[in-house]
Amino acid sequence: MKEIVMIIRPEKLEDVKSILDSIHCGGMTISTVMGCGTQKGSTAGVNEIKGFKTTINLLPKIRVEVVVEDKLVDKIILAVREKLATDHVGDGKIFIRNIEEVVRIRTGERGEKAL
Ligand SMILES: Nc1ncnc2c1ncn2[C@@H]1O[C@H](COP(=O)(O)OP(=O)(O)OP(=O)(O)O)[C@@H](O)[C@H]1O
Ligand SMILES: [Mg+2]
Repeated sequence: MKEIVMIIRPEKLEDVKSILDSIHCGGMTISTVMGCGTQKGSTAGVNEIKGFKTTINLLPKIRVEVVVEDKLVDKIILAVREKLATDHVGDGKIFIRNIEEVVRIRTGERGEKAL
């Protein structure tokens, strides 16, 4: 099992929810966060900030966490890139890590059947 953590533009949340719904993921966790990437939160073009002293500016983002079977990871990445990739900086990032165990508290089920 893998956990996919996506940091996305807030206005793209509905797209991501639809994608996750269409692959029948068991659940998801959404939070509002603040963050910056390589441009340190600047909304100017990458080169326009050259030569100026920039301070870090945090922008509002949405964090989506979903734990899925390994085989769904590539499908999700493809679908998310297809919907969310623009030609502009700040589209977001996808982090993936291994999940060792999942327990459904109500039933005690473990592993993929608990997702
Ligand atoms: N290395 C990182 N570690 C933790 N969070 C990150 C990292 N890179 C990006 N993020 C999170 O993802 C959000 C979106 O990042 P962003 O899309 O701007 O990445 P980028 O690397 O600057 O790519 P781009 O050049 O396309 O903008 C950031 O606001 C931050 O919350
Ligand atoms: Mg960026």
